[in-house]
Amino acid sequence: MSEDYAALQAAAKRHLWLHFTRHSAYADGDVPMIVRGSGPYVFDQRGKRYLDGLAGLFVSQIGHGRTDVAEAGARQGAELAYFPLWSYAHPRAVELAERLASLAPGDLNRVFFTTSGSEAVESAWKLAKQYFALTGQPTRYKVLSREIAYHGTSHGALAITGLPPIKIPFEPLPPGGVRVPNTNFYRAPEFVASDWAAFGGWAADEIERAIEREGAESVAAIFLEPVQNSGGCFPPPPGYFQRVREICDKHGVLLVSDEVICAFGRLGHYFGCERYGYQPDIITFAKGVTSGYAPLGGMMVSDRLMEPYLTGGTTFLHGVTFAGHPVSSAVAMANLDVFEKEDLLGNVRAHEGAFRATLEKLYDLPIVGEVRGDGYFYGIELVKDKATRTTFDDHESERLLRGFLSHALFDAGLICRADDRGDPVIQLSPPLTCTQQHFDEMEQILRSVLTQAWAHI
Ligand SMILES: Cc1ncc(COP(=O)(O)O)c(C=O)c1O
Repeated sequence: MSEDYAALQAAAKRHLWLHFTRHSAYADGDVPMIVRGSGPYVFDQRGKRYLDGLAGLFVSQIGHGRTDVAEAGARQGAELAYFPLWSYAHPRAVELAERLASLAPGDLNRVFFTTSGSEAVESAWKLAKQYFALTGQPTRYKVLSREIAYHGTSHGALAITGLPPIKIPFEPLPPGGVRVPNTNFYRAPEFVASDWAAFGGWAADEIERAIEREGAESVAAIFLEPVQNSGGCFPPPPGYFQRVREICDKHGVLLVSDEVICAFGRLGHYFGCERYGYQPDIITFAKGVTSGYAPLGGMMVSDRLMEPYLTGGTTFLHGVTFAGHPVSSAVAMANLDVFEKEDLLGNVRAHEGAFRATLEKLYDLPIVGEVRGDGYFYGIELVKDKATRTTFDDHESERLLRGFLSHALFDAGLICRADDRGDPVIQLSPPLTCTQQHFDEMEQILRSVLTQAWAHI
């Protein structure tokens, strides 16, 4: 065991390139290595247990270690491991497309599969550009998105992403990305800071101003998450999406609901837009569609958007080898079976109030500025001064998050995200099977570690 442990650690350090990871942080210590999972818990190389408060990376909706879902993948692999969706179909992709169409809101009934969220976002932008080219509006190519929002890392998705630090090294990016305000009410401009709905109205109207400034004839789409993840879970203010829908209709701009995180139960519905009562033109999804038992992503659109591609010599000039992979499609079907059999949406709706109330107990800590989110998706914003909402400067934030919190939370047995892409936040997005005992466990670990963090500042 200890030999295996050392050998695996050495091989990890020598050969494995981790994503978005400062490798120097592991120069003198172990690489955290998760070896198995069961329900909402995962276990490391030494057998230590962690509560997976982030569902891996907003992925493991049904929890870990579900052999029924894994076996569905294995059976499909034995029957037909691979065939492309380029010119051909295979039964599992067809069945999954039909099932997703039956679950999606309104007229979204066409599914274009990918393997990831970034590819889903790329696909939606390319679909929009070619759609407008085909329908006599070839000048529409720009995309709007919100400040600090994360929409993926491939060049197109990165151009839509609103986080300058992760874009700068890769510039120039494809042209056309335009930023609009996010819906962080905790940091709202003074003149709308006392009224959530007025703030939402202002943030939505800023979208219209951006469209007019850019020229509506140049704008193809706007990408918005139902609850914006990056920055720490910003739910939409009341009326925000209704106003955005009106603006998009008025200016002929496509509304893309980027639901890579928010779909498949995260907010207590199959799709996040249902929770807030708006109808997008495109939904992008990934992550929870398979709960991570195999990789899959995609976008859903209406007949209206597919129509120009259905006749004559027209083709959507886009595709990826592993999109709609048979094993992933079979796994997604089995995952959705679990959603139905175990009423996971019902579980989220029944317990989300208790989850919020449990996290809100942390308000008695001086470092907790705001607890925000919906469903099973929460951000806790950390502040230096609660009364003035003063945040930490870059140096303090570095010391607090990377120097202390990330390790301390992990060591205390909780996987969550300590993030400072906006202001410093801790994010929680547990498996949808969690109940009060798990909320209590999260609260207790956070209470203890945040108390130490306050002493550490
Ligand atoms: C809203 C959103 N869009 C797109 C992506 C990119 O997904 P992927 O990492 O699967 O490429 C993410 C990833 O977290 C996301 O949160």
